[in-house]
Amino acid sequence: LHSTCQTLSSSSFISHFLSNHLLGFHFEMRSLLLSFLFALAITATVSNISNEVMSKEEKEWRDHAVKLLWDERGKMGHTPLYRIEGAQMPGFPMVDMYIKNETASKSETLKHRFVWALILWAVTEGKIKSNTSVYDSTSGNTGSSEAYMCSLIGVNYTAVIADNLEEEKRDQIKRFGGILYPVPVDQRNKVAAELAYNNSGFFINQFGNADSAEEYHESGGYGMETTNVFHEIATQLNETSKPHPNYFIHSAGTGGTISSVGKYISRYSIQTKVVLADSQYSLFYDYVLNNNYTNVSAGQAGRPDWVKPGIAGIGYGYNPDPIIFQNTTSLLRTVIDEVVRMPDMATVAAMRSLRALNIDGGASTALNFLVSLYKAIVHAEGNDKTPETERMSMVFIMGDPGRFYESTYYNDTYVDHNMAHLGGMKTLNCWKAKIDDAIANGTNFIKNATACNI
Ligand SMILES: Cc1ncc(COP(=O)(O)O)c(C=O)c1O
Repeated sequence: LHSTCQTLSSSSFISHFLSNHLLGFHFEMRSLLLSFLFALAITATVSNISNEVMSKEEKEWRDHAVKLLWDERGKMGHTPLYRIEGAQMPGFPMVDMYIKNETASKSETLKHRFVWALILWAVTEGKIKSNTSVYDSTSGNTGSSEAYMCSLIGVNYTAVIADNLEEEKRDQIKRFGGILYPVPVDQRNKVAAELAYNNSGFFINQFGNADSAEEYHESGGYGMETTNVFHEIATQLNETSKPHPNYFIHSAGTGGTISSVGKYISRYSIQTKVVLADSQYSLFYDYVLNNNYTNVSAGQAGRPDWVKPGIAGIGYGYNPDPIIFQNTTSLLRTVIDEVVRMPDMATVAAMRSLRALNIDGGASTALNFLVSLYKAIVHAEGNDKTPETERMSMVFIMGDPGRFYESTYYNDTYVDHNMAHLGGMKTLNCWKAKIDDAIANGTNFIKNATACNI
């Protein structure tokens, strides 16, 4: 705009000069002078064509922020991958079950690596600048990692959270410098977008943008390793001369993690099968299998109601909008091989069974474990592609620590009150006995558990 204005004022100056001073001149003299003036005008125009889009200070800020993020990547290293000992799982001697322990990261959840990628994406593409305030809708874990990464690069961050979010997760967000903005749970996305708009900030929208961010940073070598969780798992197994696992099992919140794994596996023709572990009332199961709910909002015919509280951080239920890839979800259906869903109460019971094995994970970890246990049963019963006489392996993610849920799923009163429709503690204990028996003796907890479905 600036250079266009300059051009216009130069040309009007020329016509003004011509009409007032040059009309009586000798033709040749006039044309000589004219060419000189036009050359002057063009020079003036050209000298203003090139304007820098980003100020020197902003470029320096971006370079510095990117450097801080890569330094952080260096510090992150690899989170531990460990195998559940045979003595912990005597019922399944032919199965190697590995846990990728994401709770060992600085913000203690699987979101640390994801948010690193999300912020790197936003900084690199100029969506976050030195003075940008960042807003997101979160069920807590993304929020604490976003607070961490935003304070690392020195920008403000506001987490739009459910007004009943666990105290433990609120504390994490505050601990890393985030501001809390509680709203009714189904308003989170809408409010985060509005706040960003009204304050000229950036709504980073983890649900819509995980897809770009998770892939974005895959740079392989040059000392700058991707944070793709499967790349890390494959590297770690390779270091101990172990093959790729038969199954990778994970649940979906944004869908970013499992989709990034699915795309990685597909891109490098790895034989591992990707299994989505879904919760009882989540819509993802039908979305992945049949592409359902892509055009119906909550309350409209054809879409079941969400049943609270569900399994924290995962499943599609609270968002009243249709499931739209790269908008309300980053779950890419086409890179998932199998979907398994488990009753919510069985998942909550599995948290306690896992804790008894000294594996202290949150609710999504328990769901991942339960689906892994189910796959181990299918194998033991001779119904898997790998014969029961051959070893089979699987990896699942420990997404966050059990201590985030002391006031909810680990609290008997909470279970009796908030999961009364599922039978409260009575049903929980029924499931727990079945799951413990499966772990110890290899029994089929699903087949024998109809009595728990009260
Ligand atoms: C504990 C936990 N597990 C699993 C997930 C799901 O991961 P993703 O959002 O990458 O699908 C989340 C998401 O917030 C989470 O907090």
